[in-house]
Amino acid sequence: MSIELTVGQVANGGWCVARHEGRVVFVRHALPGERVIAEITEETARFLRADAVEILEASPDRVTPPCPFSGPGRCGGCDWQHASPEAQRRLKAAVVEEQLRRLAGVERPVTVEEVPGAADGGLGWRTRVQFAADRDGSIGLRRHRSHEIEHVDHCPIAHPAVEEVGAESLGWRGAETVEVVASSGGDRAVIVTPRPGRRVSLPDVDAAVLIDEGRRGTRALRGRAAMTERVGDRDFRVTASGFWQVHPGAAATLLDAVLDFARPKAGEWALDLYCGVGLFAAGLAEAVGPEGAVLGIESDPQAVQDARWNLRDLPQAVTERGKVEEALDRLEIERADLVVVDPPRAGLGRSVVDRVATLDAPRIVYVSCDPATLSRDVAWFAPYGYRLADLRAFDQYPMTHHVECVALLLKEPA
Ligand SMILES: C[S@@+](CC[C@H](N)C(=O)[O-])C[C@H]1O[C@@H](n2cnc3c(N)ncnc32)[C@H](O)[C@@H]1O
Repeated sequence: MSIELTVGQVANGGWCVARHEGRVVFVRHALPGERVIAEITEETARFLRADAVEILEASPDRVTPPCPFSGPGRCGGCDWQHASPEAQRRLKAAVVEEQLRRLAGVERPVTVEEVPGAADGGLGWRTRVQFAADRDGSIGLRRHRSHEIEHVDHCPIAHPAVEEVGAESLGWRGAETVEVVASSGGDRAVIVTPRPGRRVSLPDVDAAVLIDEGRRGTRALRGRAAMTERVGDRDFRVTASGFWQVHPGAAATLLDAVLDFARPKAGEWALDLYCGVGLFAAGLAEAVGPEGAVLGIESDPQAVQDARWNLRDLPQAVTERGKVEEALDRLEIERADLVVVDPPRAGLGRSVVDRVATLDAPRIVYVSCDPATLSRDVAWFAPYGYRLADLRAFDQYPMTHHVECVALLLKEPA
């Protein structure tokens, strides 16, 4: 069914909010202030979801989407292809401001900063792209909130090194997903997840090939699983299936922002929780020096091995394998001068906030890829005397609704 809507403010998740016959409508492919004809895609008792299919009055921020596969019912990878890059950053800033206001009771203006290292207009940045394969082995990208596949012959937001593999034009019979990864050190890998019980017929590619064996992890079939990422004058070993920032400029940008907020001093005792392969731990360890100490905690065993390798010249940095939820207690960590946290999208959650607060660190730097869980956790830190003292936000995922934040929480004197 089609309805005519006047589009209101942006909401978290790539939607704008409108109203129809007393119900809230979450509209995609629209921009605030527009008048559109929208096709309803989902209906619940409380709200509707819809796609703008015809623009009656366009926002000045509207542009022709650079991707030929975006639009209503098409590829679900991007949310803001139809907005200029500057407008995308304003929309994301509005989302962060609104989440902080609503969930943390914090009023502050937010600016979303551009991240260097992408091609003009926010294209060509994605160094990791996961394609879905159909039963015939041809691959594409998932449609929005759907298991259906949009077949593509290229992805404009993918980094050129990912596109050079040419995975989209090859056959991957037996595969469920095919993930192409490129590193700043010039390594490339393809990680193939087979359909249950199927053998994958692998095409020839100019990349290492890894097979995902589920709980047993990934196994390299061709080439090496280890990739090199360079940040400043330091190389990091990252196993292709492990975590690394997807935008080529993100690791350096976030490291600078974290160190700027953390202000680590020689001799201090710092924690890097959810430390991955040791990006922030390395910067912290250099700053606290041999008289200080850094403890990284990370749950992924392969990332822990990579972190230990990456930090081998910094004996003051130690990486412990485990979940933050249990490791702080197991290691009997009672205090810290500063704590850096970089959790997955779900955020810290109540029990980790409570446990981190007991460390009584004067400074907590919180790196977050979800302003909703960040704002919730900021609210949970408040009763312990932590105040949001500063926040930077980065456009690390142009064309999508995602935004990265680095927040500084300072402990107020009791
Ligand atoms: C967003 S990444 C951050 C990694 C690192 N700070 C970086 O920038 O490269 C989150 C990391 O937390 C790890 N992780 C997820 N859940 C965890 C948990 N409960 N305890 C410890 N580490 C966890 C993941 O394996 C991943 O490496």
